[in-house]
Amino acid sequence: MRTITIARPDDWHLHLRDGEHLRAVLPDTARRFARAIVMPNLKPPVATTRLALEYRSRILAALPAGARFEPLMTLYLTDNTPPGEIAAARAGGMVHAVKYYPAGSTTHSDAGVTDIARCRGVLEAMEKHGMPLLVHGEVADPAVDPFDKERVFIETVLAPLVERHAGLKVVMEHITTREAAEFVKAAPPRVAATLTAHHLLLSRNALFAGGIRPHLYCLPVLKREIHRQALIQAAVSGNPKFFLGTDSAPHARHTKETDCGCAGIYTAHAGIELYAEAFAAAGALDRLEGFASRHGARFYGLPVNGETVTLEEAPWPVPAEIPFGADRLVPLRAGSTVAWKLR
Ligand code: DOR
Ligand code: ZN
Repeated sequence: MRTITIARPDDWHLHLRDGEHLRAVLPDTARRFARAIVMPNLKPPVATTRLALEYRSRILAALPAGARFEPLMTLYLTDNTPPGEIAAARAGGMVHAVKYYPAGSTTHSDAGVTDIARCRGVLEAMEKHGMPLLVHGEVADPAVDPFDKERVFIETVLAPLVERHAGLKVVMEHITTREAAEFVKAAPPRVAATLTAHHLLLSRNALFAGGIRPHLYCLPVLKREIHRQALIQAAVSGNPKFFLGTDSAPHARHTKETDCGCAGIYTAHAGIELYAEAFAAAGALDRLEGFASRHGARFYGLPVNGETVTLEEAPWPVPAEIPFGADRLVPLRAGSTVAWKLR
């Protein structure tokens, strides 16, 4: 049986929700990861330092007894975020990044940014304070083909933004295309990217295998196999610009199995194990530790975790459903198996 021991990993992109949903999903992440960058797309959005600190307290209160887990908070960027908010966020020490959702691009993004040119002052403050901008890299324009939204965003928004703000740290979140991997690789060292396990393991074929698969619908949507191959290459390359971000995004079963289903795939129940599968399949298990436990910490200027975790190649069954407050959710691989197990 193959095993691998790595420094305890971190999840650099995670949705934890709130209330009973937070309490349902948080143990899955806290068991695996030492820290996570927590997305601010609640209703209402976590748009101020005060709201981020309050949300952080609710996360800490929801942790199982004895858990060692640190939530790293983010602010939700709006057209009206005052530049002064960045200094306040930095001073508090708990806010580690600002999230840019193009308005209308994804779940709870309606309060997002209508035109990034309006955020010039905030972005300048972020450059000054070394505060990273985390980007949902898709144009919201409904006229653009969903499979092209990431590429068009890079060309029309992201490339000019990275050039205009020459001191801004940027993470292109959950990249899904060869074009995105190439853009990040060619950009200055202050530009990085997170990769999800589901985009490493699945192409869009899986969305339509034998019928429509609502539990494999996420944003950015799964892409062609050639893109998945490019993402694998980036993940296993050893390039420190690429690191782990699950984008685990829980939704109640009935909100996905409906005539207008929500976007999001739940992977926190196997948050590191699924990456072990992808890296093993690529013959690159030796690159997992850099990707999962080192590169992100370096980018964010945080120490690598002292503890280790051990994974073994031993299949385990994933339940058909997981309790989600008063609801249930359907995790990735529901009713099937994951090939690697956390010891
Ligand atoms: O699939 C997604 N789900 N993509 C996002 O960008 C948001 C997320 C969510 O919050 O459910
Ligand atoms: Zn996300």
